Amino acid sequence: MKTILGINAYHADASAAIVVGGRLIAATEEERFTRVKHWAGFPLQSISFCLAQAGLTLDQVDHICIGRDPKAKYQKKLKLLLQSPLQVLRYLSERLANFSNVSSVARQLQSLAPGLSIAQLESKILNIEHHRSHLASAFYPSPFTQAAILSIDGAGDFTTTMLGVGNGTNITVLHDIDFPHSLGVFYTAMTQLLGFPHYGDEYKVMGLAPYGEPKYVDQLRKVVQLIPGGLFTLNLQYFRSPHKGYVSYSNDNLVHIPVLFSEALTALLGKPRAAGEPLTQYHKDLAASVQRYTEEIIFHVLHYLHKITGLTRVCIAGGVAQNSVANGKITRNTPFTEVYIPSAGHDAGISMGSAYWAHHMVAGQPRSEAVFNAYLGARYTNDQIESICKQAQVSYTKLPDTELFDRVTDCLVQGGVVGWFNGPAEFGPRALGGRSILADPLRADAKDLLNAKIKRRESFRPFAPSILQEYVGEYFELTDAVPFMEKVFPIRPDKRSLIPAVTHVDGTGRLQTVSKDVSPRYYGLIEAFRQKTGVPILLNTSFNENEPIVNTPQEALDCYLRTSMDMLVMENCLIQRGK
Ligand SMILES: [Fe+2]
Repeated sequence: MKTILGINAYHADASAAIVVGGRLIAATEEERFTRVKHWAGFPLQSISFCLAQAGLTLDQVDHICIGRDPKAKYQKKLKLLLQSPLQVLRYLSERLANFSNVSSVARQLQSLAPGLSIAQLESKILNIEHHRSHLASAFYPSPFTQAAILSIDGAGDFTTTMLGVGNGTNITVLHDIDFPHSLGVFYTAMTQLLGFPHYGDEYKVMGLAPYGEPKYVDQLRKVVQLIPGGLFTLNLQYFRSPHKGYVSYSNDNLVHIPVLFSEALTALLGKPRAAGEPLTQYHKDLAASVQRYTEEIIFHVLHYLHKITGLTRVCIAGGVAQNSVANGKITRNTPFTEVYIPSAGHDAGISMGSAYWAHHMVAGQPRSEAVFNAYLGARYTNDQIESICKQAQVSYTKLPDTELFDRVTDCLVQGGVVGWFNGPAEFGPRALGGRSILADPLRADAKDLLNAKIKRRESFRPFAPSILQEYVGEYFELTDAVPFMEKVFPIRPDKRSLIPAVTHVDGTGRLQTVSKDVSPRYYGLIEAFRQKTGVPILLNTSFNENEPIVNTPQEALDCYLRTSMDMLVMENCLIQRGK
């Protein structure tokens, strides 16, 4: 039985994951510990957590995988950089820094295993290329024995898109696209033009898009060009010169992205929206156009992937796989009939993917078990939670589940906003009933209540529904399982006015289907709400306030105390304002 530790280090969304005998035992993002979004250093706390969950020490780990390979496409990188001697110097100094980072992996790990020498640790380390790690993160935890696989993001190891096929324990790479021809770069550049400058702001454009009309798709066709019967290329005149670099990381491990578009793009589409400038109908129409054309490009790539594999099942990962609106349309717009996307489809999933790649492609182990469960992070007992409450001198009531669910659902139907801290934290960007804030989806004012009491986020962004699996067909036009909130589906027209708080302006919802097997307590709570209201749905948003999702009971309690949340539930402990 092999034990593999996977790491995403010195890269956005640093993380760790551990696979033991084909089972994903634990996985977590380092930002949950450092409390800095997208933190990009060495994930020592995540590694320590994963080892503790598996009950193992580093000397018992067979392979330690880093989801990057500096040697990948080395010649091509150098060729691009030779266009600018200054950049060659910069690149060489970055290479040197990177080399020292990678060689420091063993030194960093030694703090967790003082009994092992640097040489012993180095002998365990494997570099697994970025997109191969993405492919593995999508295919191996899927329920499919055979599937087409797509990895699509901004860039990683000089690749932006990789197509492959998975067959049992084997993945074969079929095609890839070199940097800078990147759908992720296109979407990020357009996100910046629309006045959202931060790393990870792309979902704001996706949320804004339904307020506009896709009037500018024809202009965008000049920016990204589809290759008939193939893939796509960027028209580089619209982008910052690629040899000037893309993502960089500061000494405090924050992610920085320079302005990616050129003056030619502003000449084509108008001047960028400044921070704080109102969103006009033009901005909404442009967002709609970007989203529509991105979907068209993804479907175009998927048609090609289907053509070269002949398969009807597909697994997808990479930053662009976070586009839940596009994901929800795949079965209606391509020959693919089943789609699997992991809970951490973005770069945090690189740790998990690199571990899976090594497990099967290096160690030749039998196929891993399918994963529909994102609850792979930090967990706390009632005893630990009670001791934290006592220390903070916060009064709480400890209740059995039935009574607890009754109290929580009472609070929700009365317009309350509830912090719900239950079981292990989720791996990936979505709260799925482990670290969630809940509200009543039937209330037209729920969005305003949430924004007033906690979130204070842009009014155009929707909130998401968690729905009991058995009732999906009653409320949505598609019935596929969506365990990780990774797809947006149309809500049935007759149900839209019933659940206004989770119905986006275009009549869709980014749903989570909740099954009894995977999430028994969250299922029980939603079932209690159904018995009271007749509706098997709760509004579910992440448990945070402009910070990474809370990880510990102390962080949940702090968030509750500094906001106007009405109730906090941590396992069986209930805390209620004014009670
Ligand atoms: Fe990536």
